[in-house]
Amino acid sequence: MAMTPAPHGSSSEEVAARVERRWAMLVLGIVTVLVAMVVYTGLHWAMMPPSRVETVDPLSLHVSGEFIESNLGTATEGDGSVTVRIVAQQYSFTPQCLVIPANTPVTFRATSADVVHGFLITHTNINSMLEPGYVSTFRTTFDQPGDHLMPCHEFCGVGHQGMWAHVKVVDKATFAQMAAGSRRVSCVP
Ligand code: CUA
Repeated sequence: MAMTPAPHGSSSEEVAARVERRWAMLVLGIVTVLVAMVVYTGLHWAMMPPSRVETVDPLSLHVSGEFIESNLGTATEGDGSVTVRIVAQQYSFTPQCLVIPANTPVTFRATSADVVHGFLITHTNINSMLEPGYVSTFRTTFDQPGDHLMPCHEFCGVGHQGMWAHVKVVDKATFAQMAAGSRRVSCVP
């Protein structure tokens, strides 16, 4: 095909190549900014993108396996860390109140029995989704005792705004006393 010479002596092909390069640079810039954000939040805020997929049958959660009701709450592990197991359902969390020791590595393991719920603990970096069929895990350490709220922050139905739980972070000694009598701990009214 015959080329039509563009003004200033550059062919339309050269113009197209120049425009293409500019757009490529722009896209490269955007990708660089996004990757930098992931690295920054990962290193600085300990925000981790989901790294693994662990599945669970949402229909048999209450019947057998890790998430039966007697296994929910805070359990002490052999290495001194604790594991907190939670089930979310319309419109509550089980347990409704968690007790967690301060200055102790904590692993949260949570899932949903019905629809997608949100999992967030105020004043911490914990912010995740709970999806039926999948186990969400999160590791953190609470620096000091205190009370936190754990609202569902993913719209899950008409009762969504009333779906939240309490998190009580207590000092290690208090937790050890509470854990002495039982295999798992949650708030005693
Ligand atoms: Cu559960 Cu919103």
